[in-house]
Amino acid sequence: MTNTVNSWNKKIKIGDWDVFQYEIVNSTNEEIKRLYDESISKKLIVVSNEQNQGKGRLKRKWISPKNSGLYASWLLYNYEGEIGILPFLAGIACIKCLEKYSREQFFLKWPNDLIVKNKKLGGILIEKYKDSVIIGIGINLIYDQNFPATSVSLDMLNVSRDFKLLRDELLEKLVFEIDNTLKFENKHILEKARKYLTTQKGELIQFIKDNVIFNGKVVGLSGNGSLSVELENKKIVSLNSEEFSIKK
Ligand code: BTN
Repeated sequence: MTNTVNSWNKKIKIGDWDVFQYEIVNSTNEEIKRLYDESISKKLIVVSNEQNQGKGRLKRKWISPKNSGLYASWLLYNYEGEIGILPFLAGIACIKCLEKYSREQFFLKWPNDLIVKNKKLGGILIEKYKDSVIIGIGINLIYDQNFPATSVSLDMLNVSRDFKLLRDELLEKLVFEIDNTLKFENKHILEKARKYLTTQKGELIQFIKDNVIFNGKVVGLSGNGSLSVELENKKIVSLNSEEFSIKK
């Protein structure tokens, strides 16, 4: 890790958000924390053309090559709402925007994957920071050979556009869609999210915690966004998004 301070090269306004654009950062989630600490703005978004330490959920890496994806973070200043709802809030906002580009069916894989054609198009990383919460969104736009084999990019769905035009347009749409979705009640967000989930009530799933695989049947989404699952011994457990991932 270097100690070099990232420097933004452009600052724009989208709605009432201050959007800081970078060529490269370690991670937009990390950079937004740094800007927060400098009290730069309470309505902050950071977007970068590249991340050299992009972070995924559960300490995974998020491969973020140059000019290939949307890598952006939102600061929800002094957020007092339910954090478990945010992956769904961001997920349905992303899908609403993506549907404007392609007729393919987009899905949410609990809790934070954006799926199309059974492959991963994007992911959402929610982090608490002091009194606030950060929503980090990564969406693969233009195919890069470093993307994992399990991933897909928007250009593979016949969306052919110049990277920056596509990225900037998608970002703008997302800013408005996230603002709009933030006004919804949790109940409404969960109702919408249920329709997009890859795993529906009654489905058999495998999930992983601390490298151990468990089998269970989906019971449903609970009010705080956790997934209720009935284990083989009939015990019902509640999976929270910070600890688990679904294998299939
Ligand atoms: C996941 O699927 O595990 C979540 C991936 C989240 C990636 C985004 S890219 C923008 C933001 N900055 C990061 O370092 N991660 C998130």
